[in-house]
Amino acid sequence: MTFVVTEACIRCKYTDCVDVCPTDAFREGPNFLAIDPDDCIDCAVCVPECPVAAIYAEEDVPKLDFIPLNAELASQWKPITRSKPALPDAEEWAQVDDKRGELKR
Ligand code: SF4
Ligand code: F3S
Repeated sequence: MTFVVTEACIRCKYTDCVDVCPTDAFREGPNFLAIDPDDCIDCAVCVPECPVAAIYAEEDVPKLDFIPLNAELASQWKPITRSKPALPDAEEWAQVDDKRGELKR
């Protein structure tokens, strides 16, 4: 199993999640993070850190396409191991539910 970052992260990228990951499993894109399934050890400590509740266990992901999407993007993006400021307008985008089309690769 792995944990998966979902739509709520898009255009927010708060990055609180990366500070607690014991295996540095997060990968960073322009406006989204992905979890590398090869590095995630299913500890779940990142889940409560996300202010917008974007992280789910693979078995609970509401939109299934985010499972292969995390794997694909994680293979292309570089690790992020320390938190940094959220994206500009993160608070506004945190209110938006449908933002799948905003994802930048
Ligand atoms: Fe890292 Fe644990 Fe979250 Fe997996 S579940 S990404 S190992 S903090
Ligand atoms: Fe994204 Fe939440 Fe982490 S918004 S960067 S999954 S803290």
